[in-house]
Amino acid sequence: MNEETDPVRARAREVADSFLEQGDDYGWFEALYAEAEGSHERIPWADLAPNRFLVEWEAGNRLSGEGNTALVVGCGLGDDANFLAERGFDVTAFDVSSTAVEWARKIYHSDHIEFLQADLFQPPVEWSGGFDLVLEIYTVQALPLHLREEAIEVITGLVAPGGELVVVSRFREDDEELEGPPWALSRSDSRLFEISDLKLREHREFKDAEDGITRFVARFSKEI
Ligand SMILES: C[S@@+](CC[C@H](N)C(=O)[O-])C[C@H]1O[C@@H](n2cnc3c(N)ncnc32)[C@H](O)[C@@H]1O
Repeated sequence: MNEETDPVRARAREVADSFLEQGDDYGWFEALYAEAEGSHERIPWADLAPNRFLVEWEAGNRLSGEGNTALVVGCGLGDDANFLAERGFDVTAFDVSSTAVEWARKIYHSDHIEFLQADLFQPPVEWSGGFDLVLEIYTVQALPLHLREEAIEVITGLVAPGGELVVVSRFREDDEELEGPPWALSRSDSRLFEISDLKLREHREFKDAEDGITRFVARFSKEI
């Protein structure tokens, strides 16, 4: 089923539009998770499995979490947080939607994951420079463009000196039209992450056979 004919995506777009029209940039996520009433099939991005591009990328770039902390941005139902916990990280995972956070807690019981409700734009002060690995999957692309630079600035500020940031996102060419949500990231958008002493180390694109959409995994590291 393509994106236009998928009723779950169409409903998500309807909910998103109703909030975006009112100038509420991300209130629609809580509304959508609440409306789903525990049925993950009603959330377009939820499949109760770790992100398949992260998994493919990680197969060649083993993430070793022993003794390390990780932060998962916009964690949704927690599958990627669990993926990192299985690799030995002590994971903090947060989402602006309290329904998503409660739902994730019910699915994944691990002493190595703490799920929290928090807004990316008001992170707890103690998170600043606090994590060996920060994982961002599909959150920046889900936010309206006027929030992009701020979102990226906050995310990069959460990486500890010597730590890493891994970003998974839809990819677009620099000159491609944007009509979101989601608002895909171009190669030059991904360079926006090169602040706060972060350097791009790897950028790999994946064309998905299932939906024909190109996504990328980018890895950045922060100087000590
Ligand atoms: C497209 S979903 C992706 C969820 C998850 N990362 C995944 O890949 O399955 C974007 C997520 O970001 C969360 N989100 C949106 N705005 C946020 C904000 N300001 N702070 C924290 N989370 C936010 C949403 O609630 C949603 O769970």
